[in-house]
Amino acid sequence: KTKIETLPDPFKMVEKELQPFADSISELVSSDQPILSMAAKHFFEKRHGKRFRPTIVQLMAKAVAAANPEKIISDDGQKFTSDILQFTNSETLESTGGVSGWQWSGASTVEVEGGVITQDNHQGSDVWRRQAQLGQIVEMIHVASLIHDDVLDEAETRRGGEAVHKLYSNKVAVLAGDYLLARASVLLARLENTAVVQIMATALESLVAGEIMQLKSPPESLLEMETYLRKSYYKTASLICYACRSTTLLGGHAYGSTVATACEEFGFHLGLAYQIQDDILDFTAAASVLGKPALADMDLGLSTAPILYAAQENHSLRPLVMRRFKNKGDKNTALEALYKSPTAMTKASNLAKFHAQVSEMTSFPSLVFS
Ligand code: FPP
Ligand code: MG
Ligand code: MG
Repeated sequence: KTKIETLPDPFKMVEKELQPFADSISELVSSDQPILSMAAKHFFEKRHGKRFRPTIVQLMAKAVAAANPEKIISDDGQKFTSDILQFTNSETLESTGGVSGWQWSGASTVEVEGGVITQDNHQGSDVWRRQAQLGQIVEMIHVASLIHDDVLDEAETRRGGEAVHKLYSNKVAVLAGDYLLARASVLLARLENTAVVQIMATALESLVAGEIMQLKSPPESLLEMETYLRKSYYKTASLICYACRSTTLLGGHAYGSTVATACEEFGFHLGLAYQIQDDILDFTAAASVLGKPALADMDLGLSTAPILYAAQENHSLRPLVMRRFKNKGDKNTALEALYKSPTAMTKASNLAKFHAQVSEMTSFPSLVFS
């Protein structure tokens, strides 16, 4: 197996394909309402971020162009069921310090049609244009969710600048997010692939489910790693793994094919690793580096992986987690306990590593890097 350190920079691998991205996305979100146009374009022009999701879609597009299509279609036709999550033991994985993570197991139910192409004629083909459009749709959905998220979290900064609701108002931010979502839906319909529409609509449903779970989970469940991971799946990993599966479908692979399943599984683990690492950085990185507020999760009453591991070791933290740090001094007490703990942060980091390693173990990397 190839070591990840020796692989090429994934962002560089698709730099060329992503070049036309910024201009065309700005055009796609233009509205005849100037404020809506400006608010919607805010994160696509100067403050465009890493373009992580479109990069993954492009890499996935390259990978599936190299894989042979299989026609493994299940019996139950067009019914789409969402996936099932299960815990797994991490004994077989390196450097996770015995931390266990989630295993993915998906359902195979939707049949799709599409032209299968090879890596040689990939860029410039119709299939590739649709996959590139899917990358734009995914980024539009993501940006819409960030604009709404900053309203919900009352965050003043994003991507190193002012949040849209600070720049304009809560009302404009809500409408700008809605507008981006509406534009994304039009573009999604234009792909003329009902399975992809169904999958991406489910991703939207998951984003909302994750946010509401974060807001309304009962106190005892706030201590459970399972609740935390399920929420992280809904609010972050789902959009990434559904985008991965949709890319394979647009590439001509059947819904239940090994390729589509491997790609969704890859996205699942990558998405969880991404969110866990983001939660660690909330404690360890400066706001100037993050481009958004630091130490923000506890202010919002949220316990993420580092605090959950600290509370497993130090039971006096449990009531603080359950009351969402709402008493005076709770936040400082929890922070002190976390920084004093010799293992909580390492365990959180190992959990992120666990998912990064499992994503490496799916068949996706060998499709791209062979
Ligand atoms: C950032 O998380 C937010 C998300 C990953 C999802 C937000 C989803 C919604 C607001 C639901 C509505 C969805 C749509 C499509 C409009 P965070 O707050 O933990 O991270 P941060 O530090 O980046 O703010
Ligand atoms: Mg937030
Ligand atoms: Mg949030």
